[in-house]
Amino acid sequence: MAIPIKTICCIGAGYVGGPTMTMMASKCTDLNFTVVDINEERIASWNSNNLLELPIFEPGLQDLIAKRRNKNLFFSTNIKEAIESADIIFISVNTPTKTKGLGAGKSSDLKWVEASAREVARYSKGYTIVVEKSTLPVRTAEVIENILNSAETISKREEISFDVLSNPEFLSEGTAIKDLDNPDRVLIGGNNKDAMIALSNLYKAWVPEEKILFTNIWSSELAKLTSNAFLAQRISSINSISAICEVTGADVREVSRAIGKDSRIGSKFLNSSPGFGGSCFKKDILNLVYLAEYFGLDEVAKFWESVVDINNWHRGRITKIVIKSLFGTIAQKKIIILGFAFKANTNDTRESAAIKICKDLIDEGAELVIHDPKVSPKQIENDLEISPIPKSQKGLENTLKNKSGEWRYSKNLDIFESAHAVLILTEWEIYNNINWVSVAKKMSKPSWVFDSRSIVNAAEVKKAGINLWRIGDGT
Ligand code: NAD
Ligand code: UGA
Repeated sequence: MAIPIKTICCIGAGYVGGPTMTMMASKCTDLNFTVVDINEERIASWNSNNLLELPIFEPGLQDLIAKRRNKNLFFSTNIKEAIESADIIFISVNTPTKTKGLGAGKSSDLKWVEASAREVARYSKGYTIVVEKSTLPVRTAEVIENILNSAETISKREEISFDVLSNPEFLSEGTAIKDLDNPDRVLIGGNNKDAMIALSNLYKAWVPEEKILFTNIWSSELAKLTSNAFLAQRISSINSISAICEVTGADVREVSRAIGKDSRIGSKFLNSSPGFGGSCFKKDILNLVYLAEYFGLDEVAKFWESVVDINNWHRGRITKIVIKSLFGTIAQKKIIILGFAFKANTNDTRESAAIKICKDLIDEGAELVIHDPKVSPKQIENDLEISPIPKSQKGLENTLKNKSGEWRYSKNLDIFESAHAVLILTEWEIYNNINWVSVAKKMSKPSWVFDSRSIVNAAEVKKAGINLWRIGDGT
């Protein structure tokens, strides 16, 4: 029987909830979408008249918000009202790795999912489709179902009922709008075919039917974790090969190109880097590790854990290369950090390789000047857990009094004067256009560029008289 859908609610106005509902609202203009969050500041930013103040930066997002906001797309803190009127509720809240208790360090912390499910149980009316949009451990749908059907709601049982579906999100940050507009697939896991069809009808407004996959609910949950684990595994694989390239005279770019031509391997996700970051790869692999351990599959757990281990090792490897190249010490040396986000085209720094690398360099006494076109100095300060040096104290004199180094933020790229080294950590396009000849004139000699993203023109840097280290370049 066809289930009528008019009103959609999304709990969680983050990197997934915000862009996903914005895309749906722009494709299904006859339906109403309300994105709710407990974070008032975040909702205020989503509602800001100044679109530069949206809480997340994604190319193309501002335009869509401008077109749909307050027409059929609303951002609100009134969770009760949004749930009451919703036919479909997406749960899109954060699911970070647990920091304490059972499974700490590996399993996902489901307290925000549980709180959301309780809110749905409390406020929903009639029949509601509840959709897991967050990435969740396998069998979480069971937990949600239990909460929805718990004693608390029993008194209302006659008038309310639910179906729980899994509909994981595969967007990447920085290309979220493009990914949502043209997804490789939409995955819907569930038991009730009518509910699955009702959800798929939303996507059919713009996604070709053959891209919409129906599976059982556990396969859907596991496919999301597996997808991220496979992608992260490719990066750990190529980064491990970059280390071999550097000692053997091979070049990782050439190796990537050669293996990527094999249609069984494919060319994507073979760019060597300072290590994968982002809020999900590590968390989702550790989740898989926890699941395997829980079921006594220790060898499987070890296999996947090594993907994270190599990533951690690789970040430390880059710091050591910088120190070794600068004569074994970076104390009181000015190092320019280009890029702090975990990848280009996002302001997100969660699990960014830059955090660990910058902390290590500061520990070694370096004077960092950090530039990123989208990450705020406040965010960098939160991540490094160290205050920047005040503007009045520019440079080295302060370090002479302190053992460890310091950092300051720069909004522009006029920062190369007397720098010993430049370390590129994020592949922002503006770094492609740096004039290395004029930079070389300003830097201390011998000067270095460490390019962990392979974005500079190697010949130009070398011609400018700057020493160049590139990831995986043993030539
Ligand atoms: P996020 O931290 O940016 O956003 C989550 C939001 O949920 C926050 O604003 C938080 O305040 C809100 N929230 C938490 N509990 C709430 C409650 N009880 N009621 C209302 N609001 C509540 O997280 P995100 O990056 O959007 O990720 C969300 C989920 O999607 C995670 O499970 C993640 O693994 C998954 N995911 C993320 C990405 C990505 O690119 N970031 C991609 C695919 C899947
Ligand atoms: C990743 C997945 O690509 C999405 O499909 C998934 O939905 C999302 O995680 C999630 O579940 O959160 P995201 O983390 O936003 O998306 O970005 P990616 O493009 O996957 O990059 C992740 C990290 O890998 C970045 O640090 C990036 O620089 C690095 N990377 C990526 C490489 O080092 N080399 C590559 O070739 C590709």
